[in-house]
Amino acid sequence: MVNALVRGGLLQEALNIVQEMKSNGIPPNTVTYTAVIKGFSGNGNVKEAVQILNDMEGGETLPNLRTYNTVLRGCVQAGDYGEAQNIMNKLSQHNLQKDHSTVLSLLKLHVQQMQIKEAWSDFQELLNFPITIEPTIYTLLATGAALAKEEAITKEVLDKLSKRNDLTPLILREIQTIQSYKAKAVPNPQKTDRLYRWSEGHAVNWSLIPKGPVNMEICSGLGEWVINRCKKEQDKNWISLEQRYDRVLQTWSKMELQKITNLFVCCGEASAILKQDCFKNKLDAIFVNFPDPPHNEENNRLFNADFIKLVHQVLKAQGTIEVLTDDKHYYNIITREFTSSNLFSEHPTQNSNDPTYFDELEKSVGRTERFSTAFKKRN
Ligand SMILES: C[S@@+](CC[C@H](N)C(=O)[O-])C[C@H]1O[C@@H](n2cnc3c(N)ncnc32)[C@H](O)[C@@H]1O
Repeated sequence: MVNALVRGGLLQEALNIVQEMKSNGIPPNTVTYTAVIKGFSGNGNVKEAVQILNDMEGGETLPNLRTYNTVLRGCVQAGDYGEAQNIMNKLSQHNLQKDHSTVLSLLKLHVQQMQIKEAWSDFQELLNFPITIEPTIYTLLATGAALAKEEAITKEVLDKLSKRNDLTPLILREIQTIQSYKAKAVPNPQKTDRLYRWSEGHAVNWSLIPKGPVNMEICSGLGEWVINRCKKEQDKNWISLEQRYDRVLQTWSKMELQKITNLFVCCGEASAILKQDCFKNKLDAIFVNFPDPPHNEENNRLFNADFIKLVHQVLKAQGTIEVLTDDKHYYNIITREFTSSNLFSEHPTQNSNDPTYFDELEKSVGRTERFSTAFKKRN
């Protein structure tokens, strides 16, 4: 029951059941607790996940390595290094040995902090586990190492990666980009005016955005698509918007690596960001590639009636939005929401065919069906 609620995105309801069980003298087991923690962690709400963990530690059901790893993965997604350090201290206190999931999270956190030597040692530790390491982990580390001018590490990671025979065209292009990077001053994601973190109270500084069209990609993931568009359309300003900090940071790294100057990278939940007054009538075009489909019609759906109103609010007169998805059901919902809002008219799609990470992943397992739709703002 709790698992089903978490899978459906009904986290508060799942937590209520856990609390009800406790007050009825039936302590939830570790699996149930961990499922709820996973829901909050995966949703970017590490603080709530940690609160549940603390609650567990103070009660009868003890967390296990899986529980701690779940919070650690949440720390990676939210870029919460401080909380990750607390979790690592707890692992030592409870004499729990790291497994491959722990080490993988540490590697990602160290790259986020630009602690490349530590990340390199995590990587070597990871090689000792009987698992296949995703090519994206190699490129993540190699990118961080290249930006941090750790040339020997960059070369060694790329040499290892190039020997594999399971590389997608996107990864092969990434390898080339990293290899051709000419190091300059080491950039710092904490001290840049091109990366906005909503949770840290950052706001887009519009005075930094040059005159000209402003386009946005929402749900930008790892950023390949928007980086390509920035290169192709240099007369336009681009903003990428993504809720996961780890992915935002990868977009920022790609931007630095390729010396892109017409991109601003935003981290935060799309509705929360677009609600800000500073976005009103500011955008010429919005693109959304492969938004996460809802688990059911009503819950956790980005494209609902309120979001359509927000899109209308942030677009300039005649502004457009284009959505690409592989999910026919979601495509139908999105089309229905736009049409019934009466705020938009149908518009031809551009179908740029620029690659995205998710697109290539889906194609690699034979899922090739795509649905795209576009709308123009009615004034
Ligand atoms: C299926 S992935 C697609 C990513 C990318 N567009 C691609 O094609 O590779 C969906 C992305 O949307 C992000 N996302 C989902 N809901 C969001 C929201 N409400 N606000 C911002 N980002 C969101 C997720 O974190 C994830 O990175």
